Amino acid sequence: MHEETLRSVVVLGSTGSIGTQALDVIAANPGGFRVAALAAGGGRVELLAAQAARFGAEAVAVADATAVPALKDALAAHGVAPTVLGGPEGVAEVAAWQCDVVLNGITGALGLTSTLVALEAGRSLALANKESLIIGGPLVKRLARPGQLLPVDSEHSAVLQCLWAAGPEGYDPSSVKQLVITASGGPFRGMKREEMADVTPEMALAHPTWSMGPYITVNSANLVNKGLEVIEAHLLYDLGFDRIEVVVHPQSIIHSMVEYVDGSTIAQASPPDMRLPIALALSHPRRVPGAARPIDWAKAHTWTFEPLDDLAFPAVALARHVGGEGGTAPAVYNAANEVCLDAFLRRGLPFLAIVDTVAKVVEEHQVTPADSVEEVLAADAWARARAAELTAGQSR
Ligand SMILES: NC(=O)c1ccc[n+]([C@@H]2O[C@H](COP(=O)([O-])OP(=O)(O)OC[C@H]3O[C@@H](n4cnc5c(N)ncnc54)[C@H](OP(=O)(O)O)[C@@H]3O)[C@@H](O)[C@H]2O)c1
Repeated sequence: MHEETLRSVVVLGSTGSIGTQALDVIAANPGGFRVAALAAGGGRVELLAAQAARFGAEAVAVADATAVPALKDALAAHGVAPTVLGGPEGVAEVAAWQCDVVLNGITGALGLTSTLVALEAGRSLALANKESLIIGGPLVKRLARPGQLLPVDSEHSAVLQCLWAAGPEGYDPSSVKQLVITASGGPFRGMKREEMADVTPEMALAHPTWSMGPYITVNSANLVNKGLEVIEAHLLYDLGFDRIEVVVHPQSIIHSMVEYVDGSTIAQASPPDMRLPIALALSHPRRVPGAARPIDWAKAHTWTFEPLDDLAFPAVALARHVGGEGGTAPAVYNAANEVCLDAFLRRGLPFLAIVDTVAKVVEEHQVTPADSVEEVLAADAWARARAAELTAGQSR
């Protein structure tokens, strides 16, 4: 990349799995990117201060305002004094900070405000925080200009890359037969439902192909993450749920595919490494040389594909159902899941009860259109309270 293409980047969730990998990409390409500002929750202020010092951030925010004094001390120890902001409003200020691209690597529904603020400020938004698109679908889509939202999820980045093969006129949904979203199958691939009854957090946190934050790792073990991704694909690419297939591909090399109406299927392939889709979202539409290691074609490879077992992993079918209902239904699916996920990680809920409880909460919910942030947050709060009631007193 050349100096004239230097992009200034705001990294939200900079201390997490996506955030640290984004900073790896930026560090490896000093002529391509610079860091404008950083934000995180406030749980790892030493790391955040070290990042701010290393990358020369103009501003740093923590969602937990009580972490501000410790952050200031840590910044002083590193000999830097950027603008320091605290609380959710401080994170929102950083989401609107002057820059070319905002990477939203916050985890969970909490990322919604940042997504909306960055879009409103007119920034390109590299979106890892799929939850904000899923829960605020109509709101986010109304705000986003064409091309403003750039997917970081490897599957949706793969779809985007496969859609570049659509032809000289560009993407036309009528030329696409279906999207084929791949799933590694997670650590319990091949198991029947009853075999997963005694799954522990340690077992669910041991993903076979990807190293990620704890929420998305457990979501990948019961395929809730794939359900969220099916809704995300529907929202990003305007295709009906009957045109979004999920296929299990344990090697995680093909990150997704587009099947065209003439029978041709285009796939995107690379070893599992989030730095590739992160780099592409940050530099879109240019590719960042050396962003990730390519496939070694001097070695033998076997790539396999198998259908998803919907009986053992009902989360994807449930996501199709809530996605089809639209409105506040996806927000309820996500919020109930976040509560159940926390309970499972605290050993307060059996693994199988996560999706069972989400299904109950979804079934009870009266869907409304999700036309305002207040409406989405009310549905989110209702689902959290209901999931907490249903899971209270349970143990693993
Ligand atoms: N990891 C992956 O490979 C991967 C792949 C595809 C998509 N994604 C998506 O990317 C997002 C992030 O995932 P992750 O795995 O990187 O999660 P993670 O490792 O748990 O990191 C979450 C980050 O968000 C920060 N944070 C938490 N609450 C915040 C708040 N209110 N305001 C600002 N920052 C806050 C955390 O800060 P502290 O350190 O202070 O807690 C941390 O920096 C999720 O939506 C996930 O689904 C991740």
